[in-house]
Parts: sequence; structure tokens; C-alpha cells
Amino acid sequence: MSIRSICFVCLGNICRSPLAEGVARHVIESRGLDLVVASAGTGDWHVGEPPDRRMQETAKRFGIDISRQRADNVTPNHVRRFDLFVAMDDSNRRNMQAILGRNTKIVRLLDYHPGPESEVPDPYYGGPEGFDLVYRLVWSGVSGLLDAIVAEKI
Ligand code: 4NP
Repeated sequence: MSIRSICFVCLGNICRSPLAEGVARHVIESRGLDLVVASAGTGDWHVGEPPDRRMQETAKRFGIDISRQRADNVTPNHVRRFDLFVAMDDSNRRNMQAILGRNTKIVRLLDYHPGPESEVPDPYYGGPEGFDLVYRLVWSGVSGLLDAIVAEKI
């Protein structure tokens, strides 16, 4: 595998990308893969906070514990720490490109999901069904992304 480390990125790093980090860590452990994962936000409002309680509770229902993760924000030196950056939506991808530069390897999570959705919708201001949708999309995208990394397609 040419990718050894992955950073999942959303806006606040308290809903979507912490879930992606937790799901990826779970799948990596269950498949016995050798990959480092983390997550970060393009915004810094929530740095140091645990994931949103609603996201923690949704994850827990599916057996994923994200309660010990803490929000971080994307800085230019992330380029040296990670081989691959994974955006939850197009806005995250544009913001990340501006922070990290054009030479950074950035993909969109749902490009590895077989369904029609291309962006993981921000659930922060919506109802509980938004968090379940995020869970379904993130699980599918992470699973496809890890398959692509193992197959050396990224
Ligand atoms: P996330 O959701 O990007 O999935 O972590 C958000 C969390 C907080 C805010 C925006 C999006 N916020 O504006 O505080």
C-alpha cells in the first residue's frame, strides 16, 4: 500500500469526520490493516472539544466509540503528517486545497461509495435522521475507500 496515513476532514471536526475516523479505525483493526487515521476540521471553532453528543450516540448504537477523540483543525503542516486527505463535501475539499496547496492528495469520501450521493451532508443544524444518514454514507464510503487503498487504486 502506498498510503500509510489518512486524515478525514469536514468543517467543524465534531460530526462527520470524527465519525469517519472512528469507523475507519474499527474497519482497519478488524481487517488487520497497517494504516494511521486522524481527522480535522477546516474551521477552528471547536478545537479541543469531543465529538457532538448526537454523533457520539449514533456511533455508539453501531458499536463505534468516538468519545475520546478531540477536534483539531487543518494547518499547512498537516501535509507532512498525512499521505491522503479525505473531504466529506466539495466545500471541505476547496477549503483544504487553499490551506494545503495544489500538490496535496485530496479525495472525496463518497467517490468510493456505490450510491448516487457525492457529499456527506452537514447534520449539525438538522434533526436526528441526519445523523443516521451520515452514519450510512460514512460507513459505505470508508469501506470503499479502504478497499481502494488496499487494491493500490489510490
Ligand atoms: P461537521 O459539522 O463539519 O460535520 O463537524 C459541523 C459542526 C459545527 C459547525 C459546522 C458544521 N459549526 O458551524 O459550528
